[in-house]
Amino acid sequence: MQIQANVSLGAKLFLSRVLRNPRQLGAIAPSSRHLGELLARHAAVDNYSPIVELGGGTGSLTRAMIKAGIAPHRIYVIELDKALAHYLKETFPKAHVIHGNAAELENILPPHILGNVHRIVSGLPMINIPEEIRQQIIESCFKILSPEGALLQYTYSPCSSIKSNAYGLKKKRLGTVFLNIPPATVWQYRKC
Ligand SMILES: C[S@@+](CC[C@H](N)C(=O)[O-])C[C@H]1O[C@@H](n2cnc3c(N)ncnc32)[C@H](O)[C@@H]1O
Repeated sequence: MQIQANVSLGAKLFLSRVLRNPRQLGAIAPSSRHLGELLARHAAVDNYSPIVELGGGTGSLTRAMIKAGIAPHRIYVIELDKALAHYLKETFPKAHVIHGNAAELENILPPHILGNVHRIVSGLPMINIPEEIRQQIIESCFKILSPEGALLQYTYSPCSSIKSNAYGLKKKRLGTVFLNIPPATVWQYRKC
């Protein structure tokens, strides 16, 4: 009930943050339910391991993961924008929302989950992020993932937004969602 009431508030907040910082938000609208469902399906690999979400925004992907049956206490949402992080904390009180930078995951996540994360779900606007920071984010992701873990990233381009070869990663296209504004393609990255 609380989550539903917060959805329209979220839409207004998303728009106001886009107008304030379009590059950091990197989208004209929150992800659709359909994109959330695809990501949630690939994030739910078991019933217990922590899932880290990068760039929570107004919670479209968090909402989809909870709806898909992932217990909120398993979800750690990282959001750089203070107002959005505050909104996420209020909307998803049982999830762990951290106001922080995805380039510093090993410093901002609780120590007991480091190395135990099987999936990272990223809504970060990778192509807007300078290469140096992007590198820090990707390295940080693979510091906290388990050896068999994977990073899931969506992009509005049909091509991968991460140069997998440069980071020693193998990539796999998980699908394209046309019912999203704009249509988005989801990629999975693992260590070679
Ligand atoms: C395109 S929005 C995605 C929002 C939501 N996940 C969705 O799919 O609708 C990108 C989000 O990433 C956040 N962001 C950008 N750079 C970040 C960083 N370095 N660390 C954490 N969050 C970041 C932005 O503030 C924004 O909320």
